[in-house]
Amino acid sequence: MIGLIGAMNVEVENLIAHMTDRQEKTVGMDTFVSGCLFGQEAVLAVCGPGKINAALCTQSMIVNYHPQWILNLGVAGAGEEGVSIGDMVVAECAVQHDCDTSPIGDPVGLVSKINLVQIPCDKQLHDALMAACAAVEGVKTHSGVIATGDQFIHSGEKRRAIHELFGSKAVEMEGGAVAHACYMNGVPCGVLRSISDQADGRSDMDYPAFVKLAASHSEQVVENLLRAMA
Ligand code: ADE
Repeated sequence: MIGLIGAMNVEVENLIAHMTDRQEKTVGMDTFVSGCLFGQEAVLAVCGPGKINAALCTQSMIVNYHPQWILNLGVAGAGEEGVSIGDMVVAECAVQHDCDTSPIGDPVGLVSKINLVQIPCDKQLHDALMAACAAVEGVKTHSGVIATGDQFIHSGEKRRAIHELFGSKAVEMEGGAVAHACYMNGVPCGVLRSISDQADGRSDMDYPAFVKLAASHSEQVVENLLRAMA
Protein backbone atom coordinates (compact mmCIF):
# COMPACT_ATOMS: atom_id res chain seq x y z
CA MET A 1 0.00 0.00 0.00
CA ILE A 2 1.34 3.42 -0.96
CA GLY A 3 0.01 6.75 0.31
CA LEU A 4 -0.72 9.89 -1.72
CA ILE A 5 -1.69 13.23 -0.19
CA GLY A 6 -2.74 16.43 -1.96
CA ALA A 7 -3.91 19.61 -0.25
CA MET A 8 -6.79 20.34 -2.61
CA ASN A 9 -9.18 18.37 -4.81
CA VAL A 10 -7.70 19.85 -7.97
CA GLU A 11 -4.34 18.26 -7.07
CA VAL A 12 -5.61 14.66 -6.94
CA GLU A 13 -9.00 14.50 -8.70
CA ASN A 14 -7.59 12.90 -11.89
CA LEU A 15 -5.90 10.23 -9.76
CA ILE A 16 -9.11 9.51 -7.83
CA ALA A 17 -10.95 9.17 -11.14
CA HIS A 18 -8.46 6.47 -12.24
CA MET A 19 -8.71 4.46 -9.03
CA THR A 20 -10.55 1.14 -9.29
CA ASP A 21 -12.05 -1.08 -6.53
CA ARG A 22 -12.53 2.15 -4.59
CA GLN A 23 -13.34 2.17 -0.87
CA GLU A 24 -13.86 5.25 1.28
CA LYS A 25 -13.29 5.77 4.97
CA THR A 26 -13.62 9.02 6.90
CA VAL A 27 -11.55 9.62 10.03
CA GLY A 28 -12.24 12.93 11.75
CA MET A 29 -12.41 15.38 8.86
CA ASP A 30 -10.17 13.38 6.49
CA THR A 31 -11.62 11.05 3.86
CA PHE A 32 -9.29 8.30 2.62
CA VAL A 33 -9.96 6.71 -0.75
CA SER A 34 -8.21 3.38 -1.23
CA GLY A 35 -8.07 1.02 -4.19
CA CYS A 36 -5.95 0.13 -7.18
CA LEU A 37 -4.15 2.95 -9.00
CA PHE A 38 -2.14 2.20 -12.16
CA GLY A 39 -1.41 -1.32 -10.89
CA GLN A 40 -0.54 -0.33 -7.29
CA GLU A 41 -2.53 -0.67 -4.09
CA ALA A 42 -2.91 2.94 -2.96
CA VAL A 43 -4.63 5.22 -0.48
CA LEU A 44 -5.29 8.84 -1.35
CA ALA A 45 -6.43 11.84 0.68
CA VAL A 46 -7.13 15.56 0.30
CA CYS A 47 -5.68 17.03 3.50
CA GLY A 48 -6.65 20.70 3.10
CA PRO A 49 -4.15 23.57 2.93
CA GLY A 50 -1.55 24.21 5.61
CA LYS A 51 0.84 22.40 7.92
CA ILE A 52 -1.51 21.22 10.66
CA ASN A 53 -4.09 19.84 8.21
CA ALA A 54 -1.27 18.05 6.39
CA ALA A 55 0.36 16.61 9.52
CA LEU A 56 -2.93 15.36 10.98
CA CYS A 57 -3.93 13.70 7.73
CA THR A 58 -0.49 12.09 7.36
CA GLN A 59 -0.57 10.70 10.90
CA SER A 60 -4.08 9.37 10.39
CA MET A 61 -3.10 7.75 7.07
CA ILE A 62 -0.10 6.08 8.71
CA VAL A 63 -2.10 4.76 11.68
CA ASN A 64 -5.04 3.55 9.60
CA TYR A 65 -3.31 2.23 6.43
CA HIS A 66 0.39 1.60 7.27
CA PRO A 67 1.61 2.78 3.84
CA GLN A 68 5.14 1.73 2.81
CA TRP A 69 5.78 5.29 1.71
CA ILE A 70 3.85 8.57 1.37
CA LEU A 71 4.07 11.08 -1.44
CA ASN A 72 2.79 14.63 -1.03
CA LEU A 73 1.99 15.99 -4.49
CA GLY A 74 0.54 19.21 -5.86
CA VAL A 75 1.34 22.78 -6.81
CA ALA A 76 3.74 25.40 -5.42
CA GLY A 77 5.11 28.85 -5.97
CA ALA A 78 8.61 29.14 -7.49
CA GLY A 79 11.39 29.41 -4.91
CA GLU A 80 13.81 31.36 -7.13
CA GLU A 81 14.07 33.14 -10.49
CA GLY A 82 15.34 30.11 -12.43
CA VAL A 83 12.22 28.09 -11.61
CA SER A 84 9.22 28.87 -13.83
CA ILE A 85 5.49 28.21 -14.05
CA GLY A 86 4.99 24.67 -15.38
CA ASP A 87 8.33 23.35 -14.04
CA MET A 88 8.48 20.41 -11.61
CA VAL A 89 10.38 20.36 -8.31
CA VAL A 90 11.30 17.12 -6.52
CA ALA A 91 12.35 17.57 -2.89
CA GLU A 92 15.67 16.27 -1.60
CA CYS A 93 14.44 17.58 1.74
CA ALA A 94 11.75 19.89 3.09
CA VAL A 95 12.06 22.83 5.49
CA GLN A 96 9.46 24.72 7.53
CA HIS A 97 10.36 28.35 6.77
CA ASP A 98 7.97 29.74 9.39
CA CYS A 99 9.55 27.90 12.34
CA ASP A 100 11.67 30.46 14.19
CA THR A 101 13.01 30.06 17.71
CA SER A 102 16.19 31.98 16.79
CA PRO A 103 15.70 34.55 19.62
CA ILE A 104 16.56 31.74 22.06
CA GLY A 105 19.60 30.57 20.11
CA ASP A 106 18.28 28.07 17.55
CA PRO A 107 18.94 28.22 13.82
CA VAL A 108 16.02 29.72 11.88
CA GLY A 109 13.81 26.90 10.61
CA LEU A 110 14.69 24.45 13.38
CA VAL A 111 11.75 22.11 13.91
CA SER A 112 11.66 21.40 17.63
CA LYS A 113 11.33 17.84 18.95
CA ILE A 114 12.86 16.32 15.79
CA ASN A 115 15.59 19.00 16.00
CA LEU A 116 16.10 19.32 12.25
CA VAL A 117 16.00 22.23 9.84
CA GLN A 118 16.12 20.01 6.74
CA ILE A 119 13.65 17.14 7.01
CA PRO A 120 14.91 14.39 4.72
CA CYS A 121 12.98 12.84 1.85
CA ASP A 122 13.54 9.25 0.80
CA LYS A 123 16.41 9.08 -1.73
CA GLN A 124 15.02 6.10 -3.65
CA LEU A 125 11.60 7.74 -4.02
CA HIS A 126 13.26 11.03 -4.99
CA ASP A 127 15.24 9.29 -7.75
CA ALA A 128 12.16 7.43 -9.01
CA LEU A 129 10.25 10.75 -9.09
CA MET A 130 13.05 12.41 -11.09
CA ALA A 131 12.83 9.57 -13.64
CA ALA A 132 9.02 9.87 -13.74
CA CYS A 133 9.33 13.65 -14.35
CA ALA A 134 11.84 13.10 -17.17
CA ALA A 135 9.19 11.03 -18.96
CA VAL A 136 6.82 14.05 -19.16
CA GLU A 137 7.63 15.77 -22.45
CA GLY A 138 8.59 19.46 -22.40
CA VAL A 139 8.66 19.80 -18.62
CA LYS A 140 11.78 21.07 -16.84
CA THR A 141 12.54 19.40 -13.50
CA HIS A 142 14.51 20.75 -10.54
CA SER A 143 15.74 18.89 -7.48
CA GLY A 144 16.39 20.54 -4.12
CA VAL A 145 14.84 22.10 -1.05
CA ILE A 146 11.08 22.69 -0.83
CA ALA A 147 10.07 25.32 1.75
CA THR A 148 6.78 24.98 3.62
CA GLY A 149 4.91 27.48 5.78
CA ASP A 150 1.38 28.52 6.70
CA GLN A 151 1.50 31.42 4.24
CA PHE A 152 0.67 31.91 0.56
CA ILE A 153 3.81 33.70 -0.65
CA HIS A 154 3.00 36.61 -2.96
CA SER A 155 5.92 38.96 -2.67
CA GLY A 156 9.27 38.66 -4.41
CA GLU A 157 10.92 40.06 -1.30
CA LYS A 158 9.47 37.35 0.96
CA ARG A 159 10.37 34.63 -1.56
CA ARG A 160 13.95 35.96 -1.75
CA ALA A 161 14.23 36.03 2.06
CA ILE A 162 13.11 32.38 2.26
CA HIS A 163 15.49 31.43 -0.55
CA GLU A 164 18.44 33.17 1.13
CA LEU A 165 17.84 31.22 4.34
CA PHE A 166 17.06 27.81 2.88
CA GLY A 167 18.08 27.74 -0.82
CA SER A 168 14.52 26.71 -1.70
CA LYS A 169 13.39 25.86 -5.24
CA ALA A 170 9.67 25.94 -4.37
CA VAL A 171 7.42 27.40 -1.67
CA GLU A 172 4.22 25.73 -0.55
CA MET A 173 2.16 24.92 2.52
CA GLU A 174 2.22 21.16 3.26
CA GLY A 175 5.38 19.28 2.21
CA GLY A 176 7.40 20.06 5.35
CA ALA A 177 4.52 18.92 7.55
CA VAL A 178 3.99 15.63 5.67
CA ALA A 179 7.76 15.01 5.83
CA HIS A 180 7.73 15.89 9.56
CA ALA A 181 4.92 13.43 10.37
CA CYS A 182 6.54 10.72 8.21
CA TYR A 183 9.90 11.28 9.91
CA MET A 184 8.32 10.87 13.35
CA ASN A 185 6.84 7.53 12.27
CA GLY A 186 9.81 6.22 10.28
CA VAL A 187 7.80 6.23 7.03
CA PRO A 188 9.71 7.09 3.81
CA CYS A 189 8.40 10.28 2.26
CA GLY A 190 8.48 12.16 -1.04
CA VAL A 191 7.40 15.70 -1.95
CA LEU A 192 6.60 16.58 -5.57
CA ARG A 193 5.51 20.01 -6.74
CA SER A 194 4.51 21.60 -10.04
CA ILE A 195 4.91 25.37 -10.23
CA SER A 196 1.66 27.36 -10.52
CA ASP A 197 3.05 30.88 -9.87
CA GLN A 198 6.26 32.80 -9.21
CA ALA A 199 5.43 33.50 -5.54
CA ASP A 200 5.68 37.22 -6.33
CA GLY A 201 3.34 40.19 -6.73
CA ARG A 202 1.62 38.47 -9.70
CA SER A 203 0.75 35.29 -7.81
CA ASP A 204 -2.85 36.29 -7.11
CA MET A 205 -3.38 36.36 -10.93
CA ASP A 206 -1.08 33.51 -11.95
CA TYR A 207 -2.22 30.96 -9.37
CA PRO A 208 -5.88 30.78 -10.49
CA ALA A 209 -4.79 30.81 -14.15
CA PHE A 210 -2.25 27.98 -13.87
CA VAL A 211 -3.26 25.84 -10.87
CA LYS A 212 -5.19 23.28 -12.94
CA LEU A 213 -2.45 22.83 -15.54
CA ALA A 214 0.26 22.58 -12.88
CA ALA A 215 -1.80 20.09 -10.84
CA SER A 216 -2.30 17.87 -13.88
CA HIS A 217 1.49 17.79 -14.46
CA SER A 218 2.17 16.41 -10.99
CA GLU A 219 -0.64 13.84 -11.42
CA GLN A 220 0.98 12.79 -14.71
CA VAL A 221 4.28 12.25 -12.88
CA VAL A 222 2.53 10.06 -10.29
CA GLU A 223 0.98 8.00 -13.10
CA ASN A 224 4.46 7.51 -14.63
CA LEU A 225 5.89 6.63 -11.21
CA LEU A 226 3.27 4.01 -10.40
CA ARG A 227 3.27 2.46 -13.89
CA ALA A 228 7.09 2.16 -13.70
CA MET A 229 6.73 0.30 -10.38
CA ALA A 230 4.12 -2.15 -11.71
N1 ADE B 1 1.03 27.03 -3.54
C1 ADE B 1 0.98 27.49 -4.80
N2 ADE B 1 1.51 28.72 -4.89
C2 ADE B 1 1.91 29.05 -3.64
C3 ADE B 1 2.52 30.19 -3.09
N3 ADE B 1 2.82 31.26 -3.85
N4 ADE B 1 2.78 30.20 -1.76
C4 ADE B 1 2.48 29.13 -0.99
N5 ADE B 1 1.88 28.03 -1.47
C5 ADE B 1 1.61 27.98 -2.78
